[in-house]
Amino acid sequence: MLTKPLRDEHAELLPHVESLRIAADAVGASSAPELAAKVREAEGFLTGHLIPHARAEDEALYPVVDALLGAPGATRTMSLDHVEVGRQTRLLGELRAKMASATLTRSQENELRMALYGLYVLVALHFRKEEEAYLPLLDQRLTPDGAKRMFEAMEAAARRAKEV
Ligand SMILES: [Fe+2]
Ligand SMILES: [Fe+2]
Repeated sequence: MLTKPLRDEHAELLPHVESLRIAADAVGASSAPELAAKVREAEGFLTGHLIPHARAEDEALYPVVDALLGAPGATRTMSLDHVEVGRQTRLLGELRAKMASATLTRSQENELRMALYGLYVLVALHFRKEEEAYLPLLDQRLTPDGAKRMFEAMEAAARRAKEV
């Protein structure tokens, strides 16, 4: 299957999506240091792995899907999911910084829980959309050379995103 590298990468990332739900469950239920550790883990996954992966898709995967569909802009809705992940991740970082210096208010706790559960649902659904809507199309229509070029470009883009 031509898209195996991408399916493998998703399979590596997907178990870590659970860290979002685990941190959300801990809001109001775990001690402040335990919650802070869980939020840090979730944020580390997002900034260190998921967002570079999304950047690579924006640069090197979605343009290929657009071209195969013959519909420029077809993947824009998926890129907007990535933008929302970035926005919610920044919010998570702000709330984590607040937790470091003070106890969260009830409304900040609610905000944190909502950001984490929201990210969990958004990311899990986004993965399903890519796997069920895009990967079968790529498997059917890409050439082996085209796939090789696409994955090289994705790797380079992910490396650049991790350097920032
Ligand atoms: Fe994506
Ligand atoms: Fe993806």
